[in-house]
Amino acid sequence: MPVAVVVGMQWGDEGKGKIIDLLSEEADIVARYQGGHNAGHTICFDDKQFVLHLIPSGIFHPGKLCVIGNGVVIDPAALVEEMEQLKEAGVDLEAQLVLSDRANIILPYHSTSDKSRESESRFQKIGTTGRGIGPSYADKIARVGIRTCDFLDESRLRELYQANYREKKQILKNLYDIDLPDFEAMFQELMKFREVILKFIKNTHTLLREAIAENKKILCEGAQGTMLDVDHGTYPYVTSSNSTAGGACTGLGIPPTSINRVVGVIKAYTTRVGEGPFPTELNDGDGEKLRDEGHEFGATTGRPRRCGWFDVVLARYAVAVNGIDAIVLTKIDVLDKFATIKVCTGYKYKGQVYDEMPADLDCLENCEPVYAEFEGWMANTVGITSYDELPEKAKQYIEKLSGLVGVKFLMISTGPARKHTICLGSLF
Ligand code: GDP
Ligand code: IMO
Ligand code: MG
Repeated sequence: MPVAVVVGMQWGDEGKGKIIDLLSEEADIVARYQGGHNAGHTICFDDKQFVLHLIPSGIFHPGKLCVIGNGVVIDPAALVEEMEQLKEAGVDLEAQLVLSDRANIILPYHSTSDKSRESESRFQKIGTTGRGIGPSYADKIARVGIRTCDFLDESRLRELYQANYREKKQILKNLYDIDLPDFEAMFQELMKFREVILKFIKNTHTLLREAIAENKKILCEGAQGTMLDVDHGTYPYVTSSNSTAGGACTGLGIPPTSINRVVGVIKAYTTRVGEGPFPTELNDGDGEKLRDEGHEFGATTGRPRRCGWFDVVLARYAVAVNGIDAIVLTKIDVLDKFATIKVCTGYKYKGQVYDEMPADLDCLENCEPVYAEFEGWMANTVGITSYDELPEKAKQYIEKLSGLVGVKFLMISTGPARKHTICLGSLF
């Protein structure tokens, strides 16, 4: 029963795409369980770079089946665009891709609502990707969403879309003075996408459970990160799904008892995009240097990422919430030019030091990080593939982190490409 979940441990962009692509070699099936095209997963090989938003990061391995699960919200326009790019790159989508028949759909009024809400100063700004993620998950929970199975029957799809359209039209007009385009034009556009997508829609629940029964190796791909989880993250500055490991069960329809490995991906420092608390954020030269050295600009929106030091409080929390039993440490090479490297071991707030993640935003926003300092290795680690070849001080930093977080490292990533990796163990 080899089922592994790979999750981001911070605020997303930990390098999950690179790592899942690499780990896919060991799997039969790669299944994405939540989020939508807010995700941007970068994969580099053979001097080519791809950014995947919806399609699982195993797609570049011919013969591996890629599943988009029921927990994902699918924008048909974004999916079709991504499918076209992959077809151009020579990927045999018909052989490799299936979509759950129970996934909710993102429609144009969702992104209109998302962007309008974000641009109104009278509402709280989250710094979303503007992709309609929140409004579509809100419709799902309100039980008015449209699902992929509704694509199977054109007249039912029309009926559902029209009912939703009427409601959204009124809301958007009243709240933001926005007029939606004519329904018929929107419906015909959706029909165009439906034609491309229809044959990929399958009962993936049964497919995955049968695969589990046959002892196939399944890798469940998380998007975003633990601190962006709607329940466990820095609410309300989070995304609208459960990006933590539990989301794999609800987002794919697989039982919790089938999961026997959870791998966390974490950067050797921390980044975040959008609003919200970030205790170890650096608004100084070191923060800028991390952004420059790490090319920390959003893979989806191009926004500069906020940068800061590694946070042990956060990492231990991610281990606990997800049940992480192995960690992949990424972007260690980005620290090559730092003479001093800091690691946060606690949050000092109102005279007390916390070593557990508080729920209270005020504490997260106003705490002072307690730092341990390390001497940097000041040497090039880009592309190193053997642990022994790492500079002694880099090894000391890595071993210290592993000790502080309390989990062994499965891999250490030393550059963006597949080959820039130190493998210390296997996934299954
Ligand atoms: P994801 O959302 O977790 O898949 O991460 P992103 O793709 O959004 O961002 C990670 C960025 O770092 C991408 O540009 C990757 O190509 C790059 N990357 C991944 N691992 C490494 C690494 O070990 N070193 C360096 N320098 N870059 C890396
Ligand atoms: P990957 O999978 C980093 C952030 C947004 C915003 C918040 C809510 O590439 O790691 P949303 O559009 O989801 O409603 O925005 O979540 N966010 C991400 N940040 N990486 C991501 O995905 C993200 N997906 C959403 O910036 O702060
Ligand atoms: Mg990303």
